[in-house]
Amino acid sequence: MAESNTDTKSSNQMWGGRFASDPDAIMEEINASIGFDKKLFAQDIRGSIAHATMLAHQGIISAEDKDKIVHGLNTILSEIEGGNFEFSRRLEDIHMNIEARLATLIGPAAGRLHTARSRNDQVALDFRLWVKEELQKTEQMLTGLIAAFLDRAEEHAESVMPGFTHLQTAQPVTFGHHCMAYVEMFGRDRSRVRHAIEHLDESPIGAAALAGTGYPIDRHMTAKALGFREPTRNSIDTVSDRDFAIEFLAIAAITGMHLSRLAEEIVIWSTPQFGFIRLSDAFSTGSSIMPQKKNPDAAELVRAKTGRINGSLIALLTIMKGLPLAYSKDMQEDKEQVFDAAESLELAIAAMTGMVRDMTVNTARMKAAAGSGFSTATDLADWLVREAGLPFRDAHHVTGRAVALAESKGCDLAELPLADLQAIHSAITDKVYDVLTVEASVASRKSFGGTAPSEVRKQIAFWRARN
Ligand code: ARG
Repeated sequence: MAESNTDTKSSNQMWGGRFASDPDAIMEEINASIGFDKKLFAQDIRGSIAHATMLAHQGIISAEDKDKIVHGLNTILSEIEGGNFEFSRRLEDIHMNIEARLATLIGPAAGRLHTARSRNDQVALDFRLWVKEELQKTEQMLTGLIAAFLDRAEEHAESVMPGFTHLQTAQPVTFGHHCMAYVEMFGRDRSRVRHAIEHLDESPIGAAALAGTGYPIDRHMTAKALGFREPTRNSIDTVSDRDFAIEFLAIAAITGMHLSRLAEEIVIWSTPQFGFIRLSDAFSTGSSIMPQKKNPDAAELVRAKTGRINGSLIALLTIMKGLPLAYSKDMQEDKEQVFDAAESLELAIAAMTGMVRDMTVNTARMKAAAGSGFSTATDLADWLVREAGLPFRDAHHVTGRAVALAESKGCDLAELPLADLQAIHSAITDKVYDVLTVEASVASRKSFGGTAPSEVRKQIAFWRARN
């Protein structure tokens, strides 16, 4: 027989007026989000204080009730921060956990807080505030990573290394130039973060369930109090929109992809075969069986975290793609994806910043590798065009023959005797040896954005002024 539960403290005390019995245990389990959305407690309380203050300002609730509500909410904030708050799964989520506690603390006035709002705009608000703060943190962390790269780039503006295409030696570049490539990548990530902050900077509170409200609320007042640029303009969109969360995940995924490419390079560079860098003890591990080993675990884990972040992006896109407007409970599944991705991204950026700052660069190994593999062949071809007036295609062919000869002799281009080079093309003089060194090669690439140390220093100055 059904029992009335209107005056029992069941999970339905917030919405159970029309319900005759408690939810099934499984219903409670699938429905509850408190296990993860308790992370939003500070945002929830900030939002409620702004809402109650606005309600009183508009004469919708009394000043006395507002004072009680604000005082009670501040008490709850310190209880939660101090670890003295008991979260209850029966109360479903953070919003109802806080409101129920408020009722215990201040009595009937607590019931006035939920005037002119719904959990739909409340959760949209809390989550937006959280994502906004996370984006601001990401922006700062990226600035730190860029700064680490700028320092390494400055230190190594002249250090020559092989530049690769297809992971085959292509042309000599400087390590500073290579570092600056990452500055460009993380700089783009940071500007995506800034744009995302602008996109989400609208306050959802006051959209209510989906249609707005008949109470004379002031949404501009709450928007301002909560640090938003303005209120959102469509109440239906407001409660059904999770673009801000998806944008965060998309940015995290792109940044993660960049971090993963860097991680992969660090893994390759730190092998004994390459030996371009040595990771500090602080960012590597040993093997329990092979005493000689030093493993780049942090870089490998950064590479792997990208997989989790991509998974979160796809999960949320998939959760949202079939939902009719406006709010559906599916949307409760947005938070864990974002929380997990945020944690992974923060860790990955922090670990990378540490590795970049700490790694030892072996410039001798880099330089030796830069000179191998006929990396200055293009310089020889360019010299033939410039000094002997050959069309580039012919110069390419002549150079190809020189490379083949050097390969058969087991030496480098710069080690071929002049007579051998002249036998391939009579216009070659001993001046050619000036361009066959790796230093001459990089110094000559002065085109805007090129690898010449002078050009790299210009790009460092450009970014220093913006970091
Ligand atoms: N816990 C819910 C969420 O995270 C809050 C919104 C619930 N709204 C509702 N109409 N049931 O999405």
